[in-house]
Amino acid sequence: MYKILPMKFNIRITKTQNSRLSEVDFNNIPFGRVFSDHMFVVDYSEGEWKDPQIIPFGHFSIHPAAMALHYGQAIFEGMKASKSVDGAPLFLRPEMHAQRINASARRMCMPEIPEDLFVEALHNLVALDSAWIPPQEGSALYIRPYMFANDEFIGVKPSQNYKFVIFTGPVGPYYPKPVSLIAEEEYVRCAVRGGTGDAKVAGNYAASLLPARKANEKGYDQVMWLDSDEFKYVQEVGTMNIFFVIDGEVITPELNGGILAGITRDSIITILRDKGYTVTERAISVDELIEAHDAGKLQEVFGTGTAAVVAHVSKMSIRGRDLELPAMEEREVGVLAKREIDGLRAGTIADTHNWIVPVKALETVSI
Ligand SMILES: Cc1ncc(COP(=O)(O)O)c(C=O)c1O
Repeated sequence: MYKILPMKFNIRITKTQNSRLSEVDFNNIPFGRVFSDHMFVVDYSEGEWKDPQIIPFGHFSIHPAAMALHYGQAIFEGMKASKSVDGAPLFLRPEMHAQRINASARRMCMPEIPEDLFVEALHNLVALDSAWIPPQEGSALYIRPYMFANDEFIGVKPSQNYKFVIFTGPVGPYYPKPVSLIAEEEYVRCAVRGGTGDAKVAGNYAASLLPARKANEKGYDQVMWLDSDEFKYVQEVGTMNIFFVIDGEVITPELNGGILAGITRDSIITILRDKGYTVTERAISVDELIEAHDAGKLQEVFGTGTAAVVAHVSKMSIRGRDLELPAMEEREVGVLAKREIDGLRAGTIADTHNWIVPVKALETVSI
């Protein structure tokens, strides 16, 4: 049996008969390996999105010539739903993710997904699987919207057919302890001037894997990407934007087309400015970082992103030198930024920017 929501897009809902929820231990969730009961799927053909549905989570089949597998027209988003202290499920700035996936779509010659369909699908899916949102502090329901080219065709051109999917899965804290970084002075991703660094496209991440593996082999957790022209200016880190605190000033690389416009980055810049900090978006070179470190002025380094929220950096390797960073007890800005985002999600800090969107109750009508 399926149900129809009395909403604009008539998303058909087929509920699972076999919930897997009881198999999950919310106190011990391996990141990215546990998936909730349902997923949203909609196909694009003949110039329109057709028959949006929520169905039990499971495999779908694709043709061996599906274009995404060959030419990489594949984009995605990463976002979270969490529960406030009184148990209400909510999103943080969901419309920003809808806008960003459409910006990625434009860059990759893919069709945009109507913003209200994206948001409506999120509400329905998360309302249906709200029992999958872990209540533990620092845990959340991770949400993965994505789209890929589905034409059965060999040849380099934009596909005519696409599949858009959203699935979700409970996750615990991403980086339980501070991370170490190594500045990458040999490889770049596709994030070069005029490239695809400001879009959330699958190929960017594929190109990051080899340097990331080499960084791990040298004992560092993550790569800190530098610009591709001079290997001089800092871009971002793995799946995070990066912030430095130098002599009381908060500095983050400007959005220059080569890095992703992180939604957490934007929230944290706003929060810190509200709190009276000077936050500067500008190019920052590794030389400046070394100089600030040696002068004792590099007070904090942290990454920001949906998965980690704020990940403190314990040390950075630049040009073969390990720069040790101040102890956690001395860090004020990154700690405050994380506390504010967590507090907004928990409902314990006032939402002055209207970023919190409560998940709408699922009003289903049987047919
Ligand atoms: C390359 C990259 N940079 C930065 C971010 C942080 O973006 P957001 O704060 O929107 O999660 C992400 C995560 O999506 C990312 O993949």
